[in-house]
Amino acid sequence: MKGIILAGGLGTRLQPITFGVSKQLLPVYDKPMIYYPLSVLMLTGVTDIQIISSPDDLGGFRKLLGDGSELGLNLTYAEQDKPRGIADAFLVGADHIGDDSVALVLGDNLFHGYGFGEVLQTNARDVEGCVLFGYPVRDPERYGVGVLDADGRLTSLEEKPTRPRSNLAVTGLYFYDNSVIDIARGLEPSERGELEITDVNRTYLERGTARLVELGRGFVWLDTGTHDALTEAGQYVQLLEHRQGVRIACIEEIAWRMGYIDRAACHRLGRNLASSPYGQYVMEITAA
Ligand code: G1P
Repeated sequence: MKGIILAGGLGTRLQPITFGVSKQLLPVYDKPMIYYPLSVLMLTGVTDIQIISSPDDLGGFRKLLGDGSELGLNLTYAEQDKPRGIADAFLVGADHIGDDSVALVLGDNLFHGYGFGEVLQTNARDVEGCVLFGYPVRDPERYGVGVLDADGRLTSLEEKPTRPRSNLAVTGLYFYDNSVIDIARGLEPSERGELEITDVNRTYLERGTARLVELGRGFVWLDTGTHDALTEAGQYVQLLEHRQGVRIACIEEIAWRMGYIDRAACHRLGRNLASSPYGQYVMEITAA
């Protein structure tokens, strides 16, 4: 399975911060936002990942993450010259996907929960059709919304409905089989001129091959799109890390625990940032 992180968009709701820096490079407490979605792909077992962003912003991501080899990853970068919608990622990333399945994650989505790695790995196995992840929210009208029948089968999908028929938001993490490229190629832009991910998902739904996995109360899915949401996400991470003494979305630790790099290599990565508590944590967990 290949991975794509879509880190485009203008971050208009975060202006003026986003005039000078890409939203997905902003800090969520102790690390850049993109570490969170990157760690989701890494936990899924995906190591061949393309980061898609605007020509202006790609340099920042490249500087931050390089070719990924230090983490045992293969990271590549591709330009989206202007925001054309989430589903455009499959057109930009078609060569990268090749004839494989693909996991797409939005660069501003933050997930956390016990056993998440296992949920991801189980659902990424032999994807036929699409796998969506649903999360109950108070304000579903801001998201793609899914409706399930009594047997938990997905029956409808709507993008930002004014009158949502459920409180189940479709999160920004999606697994697809290879037909997603053809589906994306056949899409018409929506009223706002974008290739909508919900239209892709609806095509799978009509074919009877869309599945939605519910992430329940034990999981956290956070928004980072407004000043308050961004601050609150940082506070959540801070609280959890202070209380438990662990770091979430620590990509060096995940690379080691997933077996992409060995302990010594991970320790060296920590040493490179030894003057920050983040680096010290990486050194501590990998101390001989
Ligand atoms: C996008 C999708 C929406 C999804 C959301 C998750 O919305 O269109 O279906 O629920 O991401 O973050 P956007 O945030 O681009 O408005």
